[in-house]
Amino acid sequence: MTTTSTTLDQGHRFGGAWTEVKLEAVSDYCEFFNKVLVDQPTAHKPFERWYFDAFAGSGTRRVERAEGGLFEGKPVEIQTEDMAGSVLKALKVEPAFHKLAFIEGHRGRFQSLEKIKESHPERGITCLHGDANKKLAEIFSSSPWSNQKGGRGSCRGLCFLDPYGMNVDWSTLKTLADTQSVDVWYLFPLDAVSRQLAGKLDRVDDNKQRRLDEIFGTRQWRDEIYKTETTNDLFADLISTSTRQFDRGQIERYAKSRLNSIFRYASDPLPLLNDSGRQIFSLFCLSNSASDPAIGLIQKGVSWVLKKHSAR
Ligand SMILES: C[S@@+](CC[C@H](N)C(=O)[O-])C[C@H]1O[C@@H](n2cnc3c(N)ncnc32)[C@H](O)[C@@H]1O
Repeated sequence: MTTTSTTLDQGHRFGGAWTEVKLEAVSDYCEFFNKVLVDQPTAHKPFERWYFDAFAGSGTRRVERAEGGLFEGKPVEIQTEDMAGSVLKALKVEPAFHKLAFIEGHRGRFQSLEKIKESHPERGITCLHGDANKKLAEIFSSSPWSNQKGGRGSCRGLCFLDPYGMNVDWSTLKTLADTQSVDVWYLFPLDAVSRQLAGKLDRVDDNKQRRLDEIFGTRQWRDEIYKTETTNDLFADLISTSTRQFDRGQIERYAKSRLNSIFRYASDPLPLLNDSGRQIFSLFCLSNSASDPAIGLIQKGVSWVLKKHSAR
């Protein structure tokens, strides 16, 4: 869906061509999720289906296009369009989610989400302003989600984690895994992580190392991604140097293995490339359902999504 913007506001500008691939992939899975669960566990009393958008944005994504020019015989004009972001796409999914929770840290974008909520009073929308990691911890430690642990309870959820970069804490992933009733689509920031992992470990400053601890959920990455060699200097003192061994493909596989340490199922990633063909994100689907048939169905839905969007 696109609408030509008539407002004078700045709009929310982010992403590139890969953003559409990402949003359509998640939206397709949302549809699959709701279709599969629509009459489950019984048609008489189906699960309450929740959608969580933890880095929700404003609801729209502003893009600019140049129109006109020499070959069209008119001066170049820049057109701005507000395209549907993840929130508006989630609201369009059929069958519909019963409840939707949108979390956003930026005040102006949060206010846009409140307006979307006001214009859809019947949709069971909650908008939360603040840090996504903290807000998700609050949601999942209170009713009805605090009763869902171990896959019990009558709610099932789908959570989209769509950060700009390395903003998702490991404890958030663990909280979602522990519910055993929420499927997660996680935009793993492969490019940002690869850039933080400098060629030599001593070039990764303490703040970055702490952030990488959060991303991988372990301190072990230092030993697994880097190889340490010890030599003697001129004065026979021991010097140890840790050199990065992993290329970007290995970093992506390492990330998947870490996710698999807390989720029973971590999909192959959907690679998201920028205009120069460089992979900047890896989009994973994660589930920790205790049910083998449920995991089988999730795999089926994800294979369909990956097949449809990988070639784009
Ligand atoms: C890539 S954008 C999300 C786009 C959105 N999913 C869409 O499709 O329209 C990331 C959003 O996360 C928000 N954000 C960044 N860090 C956050 C945090 N720690 N907690 C909550 N929101 C955060 C930013 O303000 C931004 O709106």
